Amino acid sequence: MAQIIDGKAIAAEIRQHIANQVQFLKTNHNLTPGLSVVLIGENPASQVYVRNKVIQTTNAGMNSFHHQKDATISETETLDLIDQLNADAQVNGILVQLPLPAHINADKIINAIEPDKDVDGFHVVNTGRLTIGLQGMAPCTPLGCVELMKSVKADLTGCNAVIVGRSNIVGKPLAALLLREHCTVTIAHSRTKKLNEVCMGADILVAAVGQPNLVKGSWVKPGATVIDVGINRIETESGKMKLVGDVNFAEAQHVAGAITPVPGGVGPMTIALLLQNTVRAACMQHGIPLPD
Ligand code: GUN
Repeated sequence: MAQIIDGKAIAAEIRQHIANQVQFLKTNHNLTPGLSVVLIGENPASQVYVRNKVIQTTNAGMNSFHHQKDATISETETLDLIDQLNADAQVNGILVQLPLPAHINADKIINAIEPDKDVDGFHVVNTGRLTIGLQGMAPCTPLGCVELMKSVKADLTGCNAVIVGRSNIVGKPLAALLLREHCTVTIAHSRTKKLNEVCMGADILVAAVGQPNLVKGSWVKPGATVIDVGINRIETESGKMKLVGDVNFAEAQHVAGAITPVPGGVGPMTIALLLQNTVRAACMQHGIPLPD
């Protein structure tokens, strides 16, 4: 049976480490990192995510600034808010919760954020930096995936990594991060031929497509590390709602060497890495080395 990778426990360790770093920055540099979260409208899922971000930011000892705006706010007013946050020295990180209302161009808003405050790592400048190997902000979910992989095997050099999914938020940035770890990287997607065979070559297999139970046990190479980024709400035969990933966990756990569960795998890591990006941003902006 595979080792179950406990994302909840690993995320809690990271949060504790961040809280220690924040304490060090407060004591030795009189610096309290601050994160601004902008939520536009009343999408229930976004409200839950944002509430968790605010709570965890505060619990780590950082300043949390919450900007709740009506869904009718104009694009210009939103850009004005971003300008104001860019100019505010108390704000080290800015996160605009997605999705945005249809009348606001999300790319325009994201690319208006000062790149060094872009803790989501979605700005084109940070995307470019990641691709060519410069220091910058990388997206939180892919960073969390790499942490989970390294909890199994600290050195990923030479591993064959297959990522199923080519999104800008997970698949593409994760490919760049894994290249940085010296993996041989394949990005597969819905049009990939013989997807099962491609997956069978993976020492590290990542599923990030949003299709419940897509990856079968027979697609997993014996002993592989399987990272499941999917969060799908499905109805069971008894009519109850249940969260499942993109991997058929019941099958894959018998073949994999290590595997993340859903929930409790990648999910809890995202906010932990957001907090880490915020501390890094604060240190970079003040020319302070990141505390140990
Ligand atoms: N909505 C769903 N996931 C995310 C995320 O990682 N960042 C932002 N800004 N919005 C999201």
